[in-house]
Amino acid sequence: MGEGDAIDAEALTEEARRILIENDRGGYTVPSARLYPFQWNWDSVFAAVGWAEFDRDRAWREIDTLLEAQWPSGMLPHIVFWTEESTYFPGPDVWCADRGGTSSSGISQPPVAATVIRRLSEAGGEVSERRFDAIDRWHRWWHTARDPEGRGVMAVVHPWESGRDNLPDWDRPLCAVDISGVGGYSRRDLDVVDQAMRPHKADYDRYLALVQFGVANDWDDERIALGSPFRVADPGVTAILLRAERDLAWMGRTLGRDVTVIEERIARLETGFEQFWNPAAGTYCSFDLLTGAMAEAGTSASFLAPYAGVTDHLDELVDELTAWSERCRFLVPSFDPRHDAFEPLRYWRGPVWSMVNFLIATGLREVGHCHWAERIRSDTRALIGRSGMPESFDPVDGGPVGGPRFTWTAAMWLAWAGRM
Ligand code: GLC
Repeated sequence: MGEGDAIDAEALTEEARRILIENDRGGYTVPSARLYPFQWNWDSVFAAVGWAEFDRDRAWREIDTLLEAQWPSGMLPHIVFWTEESTYFPGPDVWCADRGGTSSSGISQPPVAATVIRRLSEAGGEVSERRFDAIDRWHRWWHTARDPEGRGVMAVVHPWESGRDNLPDWDRPLCAVDISGVGGYSRRDLDVVDQAMRPHKADYDRYLALVQFGVANDWDDERIALGSPFRVADPGVTAILLRAERDLAWMGRTLGRDVTVIEERIARLETGFEQFWNPAAGTYCSFDLLTGAMAEAGTSASFLAPYAGVTDHLDELVDELTAWSERCRFLVPSFDPRHDAFEPLRYWRGPVWSMVNFLIATGLREVGHCHWAERIRSDTRALIGRSGMPESFDPVDGGPVGGPRFTWTAAMWLAWAGRM
């Protein structure tokens, strides 16, 4: 029993529900009212996990609203701009991408939806043909657009596509991005969150240059795959997709569909995943598809292998987790706390993210590492107990990091960390 158990769980549950209700825009939930005023892809899917704890219909609505924004190519965008808001940059006028039912960004985000749809279906909902087809098209898009060579690893063509925006992994690959044409712009995130917690301007210039590259190439998947100055194979997206493919196959079997093609995709990803293993680092690392260079340290995504059903290096991963736990009071920091680039306050360069913890713990429990799964859950519980429900947390002192009253942290409390 840790310090998380001295907390008023009932009050926190009330607070978490209030946050979801407050962030509800009727059909989708914004991540945090001022900082992120639109629908974000994986945020919405985690929101559905939270909604399901007290309003199952609302949970399904969240997923269905996201699916409404699907592009003809199958892509599900990372941001959907259902309304106009001036508090966010870059908005729809910068992305120039309105191929789905509304305007959106031109890239995607980690595909957790199939796994959550399965979770909702198993808890009593029916498996729907329509949702199955939409997710199948999205997964196919990942394979054709982000792994055209069929290597069994997923590329991200923008750091934002990984969901882990300013991870040190992207620093070196981003150096190749030309920023001479970016021009002036005014960030809005710094109106809401301290600069010490947000990416630097040099990173932002490159984020924008990559958006401009997508616009210049009309968001055409083939042209982006061939010419993008940034293409990095990400173990995070790949692990999440591998898990999601297994859950999609489950949905397909339940519906009596032929899932042979999904099984082939699963087999390709299972074989492909080993390419992320970095023997020198003793963990799974991203690598630059343009230069072949591998990142030199692990991230929280390295621990998603069990979640993906990949158990080849389980002992080494547990050794890593042990070493990280000796550096940080709270697991799981987003980046290796022994590395020089570790920064406990700066976004994805150190802070703990509750929904990543949920995925890691789910996988560890499934492969029998219940002690570690429970340690990660009780750390998350303790963090929320002492700092409430911000975007993320300082892994060293447990303080709040990023935007306030955050949807996914509230959802993770309701569905996981807050439950006894
Ligand atoms: C940041 C995060 C991303 C998230 C978004 C909205 O960009 O890095 O993962 O989806 O905020 O919360």
